[in-house]
Amino acid sequence: MTQYVVHGGRPLHGSVNISGAKNAAVAIIPATLLVEGKCRVENIPDISDVHDLMNILTTMGAQVRRVGATTWEFDCTHVRQTRAPFDEARKIRASYYLIGALLGRYGKAEVAMPGGCDFGSRPIDQHIKGWEALGAEVEIIGGEVLAHSDARLKGSGVYLDIESVGATMNTMIAAVLAEGTTVIENAAKEPHVVDLANFLNSMGARVSGAGTDVIKVRGVNRLQGGFYSIIPDQIEAGTYLMAAAATGGSVTVTNVIPKHLDCITVKLREMGCRITELDDAVRVDAPAKLRRTNVKTMPYPGFPTDMQPQIAVCMALAKGTSIITEGVYDNRFRYVAELHRMGARAQVDGKVCVIEGMDGLAGAPVKACDLRAGAAMVIAGLAAQGTTVVEEIHHIERGYENIIEKLRGLGADIPRIDVPETAPVNAAG
Ligand code: EPU
Repeated sequence: MTQYVVHGGRPLHGSVNISGAKNAAVAIIPATLLVEGKCRVENIPDISDVHDLMNILTTMGAQVRRVGATTWEFDCTHVRQTRAPFDEARKIRASYYLIGALLGRYGKAEVAMPGGCDFGSRPIDQHIKGWEALGAEVEIIGGEVLAHSDARLKGSGVYLDIESVGATMNTMIAAVLAEGTTVIENAAKEPHVVDLANFLNSMGARVSGAGTDVIKVRGVNRLQGGFYSIIPDQIEAGTYLMAAAATGGSVTVTNVIPKHLDCITVKLREMGCRITELDDAVRVDAPAKLRRTNVKTMPYPGFPTDMQPQIAVCMALAKGTSIITEGVYDNRFRYVAELHRMGARAQVDGKVCVIEGMDGLAGAPVKACDLRAGAAMVIAGLAAQGTTVVEEIHHIERGYENIIEKLRGLGADIPRIDVPETAPVNAAG
């Protein structure tokens, strides 16, 4: 069992380089299945979700090799396998993009229902709606999504009932090689939706409108190899900004697109932080005491649900009472029970969490319930007095490249240690 031991109470200072965007990379990697020829993709983050996807592609017959520090080359020209390895695919959420890509290229896909963070029910009905609109038949049997189309997929209108990031990107992926034009309405507008469209276009696709709520995909006969560089990770950058705010420090995140961070920095400003924007960097200077604020999470350009646990820690340390309304998922407050262990005063009622700010948190053993909740535990530990042991850190390492080294570079004292597994304790109740 590996844990982070966070010795808290030191403000973070300095600058940290932000890696490529996880949620763009995990769509672009499966989308390389559409391409005949070699794709070189730069700025791929070194995280376990990315490696899991690369292993799946390799098992299916793709050639995947590292050609630079953050650059990988993918050659899926000779892949003929349309079934993804079951156990590997069901571990991660982004394996659902394999379905769109296999369906688009071969008219057939067999991929386990996706895994990923547990935020309550996470259906994929809107993805299925997109594939079916393009002419595919889709069934779920034995925990596997079986999709096929005897003829080439046909472009069509797809109105998404929910502004779903995954369904928008998956419909786009499936539509790229379809015959005719697909129009996706009520599309998600996240930066990684635009990044996927730019990747596909750089390989020869004809996608327009990404970043607005109507995306048009004009089908082409084939995609050819090329070079692409992934955008910086908005959420990783936001996480370091929140860590600086919570610890009362000052941190510059570099290699970012400041515009993508506006929805986060606006809240930090409300909480009393000074924000300085540079060309490709953003600096936060925290006040002596944060001020309260309210947040409702929403699709981009709203405040991201993936920043909700991290800002909750700042609110727990702010002056006054803050309210978070979760507008995307059914159940994204499981981590609040962990914050209680550190003395936070927070009450959850359905999709609302009321947080009464206090003077400090106290270190405690806590667990990472999921990726962003895990990052929030690290932030809470950095801000707390005493030592916080964060368990189940595999969740964190799914999505944060070198988090320990990056935090150490900002002055954190946070060893990553291996401890022997202990026998489970039988607990009643
Ligand atoms: N939804 C449906 N039906 C669908 C698809 C989505 O009801 O077919 C619902 C979801 O249950 C949720 C809402 O729509 O309530 C939004 O879900 P969305 O499809 O936008 O999310 P996702 O594709 O499952 C991606 C990211 C998440 C991020 C969300 C929202 C990946 C692999 N995951 O998930 O990232 O929270 O978009 O921005 O890209 C993370 O990075 O920590 C993370 C959880």
